[in-house]
Amino acid sequence: MKVFAIAAASLFALASAAPNPGCQPGTYSCTTNSSGGPGWQTCDVNGQWVFSGSCPPNTVCKFYPPSKSPYCVPPDFKFP
Ligand SMILES: *[C@@H]1O[C@H](CO)[C@@H](O)[C@H](O)[C@H]1NC(C)=O
Repeated sequence: MKVFAIAAASLFALASAAPNPGCQPGTYSCTTNSSGGPGWQTCDVNGQWVFSGSCPPNTVCKFYPPSKSPYCVPPDFKFP
């Protein structure tokens, strides 16, 4: 009973600290720009995605997990 109350309280604290629980501050991911082209975004200190840039022409955004970063690369590019 007491344990349940603590768990419920900490869940509430997490939910109110992160209004948009979509991302971990300081992380990056791929997205699309306003015209639908490839780009990348950054998670700000509030846990909200912020559009960061478009990929150059003839490239697509691919996420490379070992560096936790997205890269703009040719569509047929494969990470080693
Ligand atoms: C979106 O990305 C595409 C592909 O890189 C680019 O051609 C286009 O100019 C970008 N649009 C905007 C609004 O940045």
